[in-house]
Amino acid sequence: MNYYLAPLEGITTYIYRNTYHSMFAPMDKYFTPFLVPRPKKGFSSRELNDILPEHNQGLFVVPQLLTNRAEDFIYAARMLADAGYGEVNVNLGCPSGTVVPKGKGAGFLAHPAELERFLDEIFSKLTLRISVKTRIGMECPEEFGALFRIFQKFPLEELVIHPRVREDYYKNQPNLTVFGKAFRESKCPACYNGDIFSRGDLEKLLGEFPGLPAVMLGRGIIANPALLEECAGISLAARESGEAQGMQAGKLQKFQQFHDALFQNYQEALGGDRNVLFKMKEVWTYMIQSFTNYKHYAKQIKKAETVQAYGAAVRGLFREQEVTGHGRFSF
Ligand SMILES: Cc1cc2nc3c(=O)[nH]c(=O)nc-3n(C[C@H](O)[C@H](O)[C@H](O)COP(=O)(O)O)c2cc1C
Repeated sequence: MNYYLAPLEGITTYIYRNTYHSMFAPMDKYFTPFLVPRPKKGFSSRELNDILPEHNQGLFVVPQLLTNRAEDFIYAARMLADAGYGEVNVNLGCPSGTVVPKGKGAGFLAHPAELERFLDEIFSKLTLRISVKTRIGMECPEEFGALFRIFQKFPLEELVIHPRVREDYYKNQPNLTVFGKAFRESKCPACYNGDIFSRGDLEKLLGEFPGLPAVMLGRGIIANPALLEECAGISLAARESGEAQGMQAGKLQKFQQFHDALFQNYQEALGGDRNVLFKMKEVWTYMIQSFTNYKHYAKQIKKAETVQAYGAAVRGLFREQEVTGHGRFSF
């Protein structure tokens, strides 16, 4: 089974991906947050930094593109192929109110005829591998049948399904019935994505879908970067031999090392306390929930305006609290 890091705009930057990869169980693929191809202009400098080959050494990175214009997609995909990338991913899931009304991201799902023309054009003109990451519709899951039939007309590298509709955003439960049907009928490998926050969640999913080729992890891994190790059972032997308490201490230490490395890497790459703190606070939105009694520390971290205040809040958290590892989050 393959594990992928989900694209999370603003969070799973090349800095995050590299820091994660150097410290925790490596992912089989890392998807970049969406890049927006601009006609004839290429990418912004932030986007270029994210995909520069020297910033992604040793990682299997799949750049993701967000557009509904085939010519822009083709132009950007060719640039990526020239930079050495072998696969690109189409974003058909972004639920944002600034993206959807333009018929992009999940908004593209409301225009199946245009979507089919778009896929037809990109598949006929490009030779690199193309995968799709999709929601199951705009408003209701019944939309997915027709969309799925369109996807099946093309030689997708894989189909990553986040089985929610756009209207759900991240509320309600992923629709496992719709996912299951697609998983069983898809000609290309189907990858599951959504709400895997603990080893128990993954075991339940695999129990339901034996032979699942891949799972993409998003908020769960940001909240608990040790999640994949726990899911893959890498540390299981130690846990079963009664070293659970020691493991929790080790986990706290590893969280701290990871935090410190991420903080340092952002400081080196971005400079400017404001930018660095902004990035770290986005990660803490998720990671703080892995700690006991975290609410007070969450406030301290959120209101920190200097590196000193931030450092004091984070040190207090690591000194006074523990990592729970319960996998129950409210995002
Ligand atoms: C803050 C945030 C940013 C996201 N950015 C992207 C993105 O750039 N591209 C994309 O396809 N999905 C994006 N997503 C969706 C995630 O990739 C993923 O599909 C979603 O979080 C569900 O998976 P999870 O429950 O494992 O987090 C984003 C989600 C969040 C919460």
